[in-house]
Amino acid sequence: MNERLFSLKNRWFTISVGAVVLIAVLSIAVGFVWVPRVHGGATVDSLWDAICSAAGAPARYRNATPQGGKAIQPSDVIVNSAMMGPPDAGAVRRGTALAQQCSTCHDARGPAAAAIDAPRLAGEPASSTYKQLRDFKAGHRTNPIMQAMAANLSEQDMRDLAAYYAAQPRATPAARPDARPDVPRLVSNGAPIRNIGACATCHGAGVGRAATPVLDGLSETYLRAQLTAFRAGTRANDINRQMRNAAHGLTDAEIALVARYYASR
Ligand code: HEC
Ligand code: HEC
Repeated sequence: MNERLFSLKNRWFTISVGAVVLIAVLSIAVGFVWVPRVHGGATVDSLWDAICSAAGAPARYRNATPQGGKAIQPSDVIVNSAMMGPPDAGAVRRGTALAQQCSTCHDARGPAAAAIDAPRLAGEPASSTYKQLRDFKAGHRTNPIMQAMAANLSEQDMRDLAAYYAAQPRATPAARPDARPDVPRLVSNGAPIRNIGACATCHGAGVGRAATPVLDGLSETYLRAQLTAFRAGTRANDINRQMRNAAHGLTDAEIALVARYYASR
């Protein structure tokens, strides 16, 4: 037995090195490729992506690319405390005049307006309305009607319109016979196991969170459409993926439930 230990001629050496390499390759494949792929909601495009996400580095530089569509840039609106200040009377006055061109869709009641399904803006926080207008103008949120409308608005116009709508009272919808008085668990508690935050911590007339819309009394079809779009990633203008994270694990039934709940409030 005068064979050298570290030599490929040594059968035991070859077998043990081979086994170690095989185990390493297998665990890399399982840990970085297979597990992230099986894990619901994860999007892994390459091995490097998988290694980054396994190491906890967020893939924030990658744009949301809906299947078959082109990449949607996330919002570039920076939310700061200046947006939260009380509006001055001048802004509300200028906004009143500007809002004439919006009222056909956003204030009108009746079958024609209902068919367009434009969301209620009265009583929405100014920071939220302003951010949405900026996103439509920049193409970060897509909608043919609203992108065309926002294209003609200046920075000042958007601030004035936002101030005007924030100053309008929010109409409470008439109680519907099928309204659910009980708060769905998803709204009050979220679903911690699935990483879904409680909707009520961010949305709510009393929360006063910057650039976060109040959902109460928006139409059921609009709410459903937006949640489905966030879930699919076709609406991707939410800062830090706040809504895509909340919507990614929702089932169709849960979307229908929360949409009905908020619409009836
Ligand atoms: C022809 C109808 C129409 C007109 C006119 C119109 N909008 Fe809209 N607006 C819509 C529709 C439809 C949506 C929903 C878009 C979607 O589904 O993503 C919308 C969405 C919005 C949103 C997003 C609200 C939210 O809750 O996220 C804002 C803000 C808005 N419009 C402001 C305005 C302003 C300000 C004007 C006037 C300058 C205006 N719109 C004129 C139809 C209209
Ligand atoms: C971490 C805070 C947070 C949580 C939790 C959250 N949201 Fe949101 N939501 C937001 C923000 C911020 C926006 C505005 C996104 C943007 O900038 O366009 C939004 C937008 C929405 C919209 C679109 C409204 C509109 O007018 O277009 C709907 C619908 C919505 N959220 C429903 C929900 C539901 C249902 C839940 C619970 C399952 C939920 N959200 C949980 C922060 C949150």
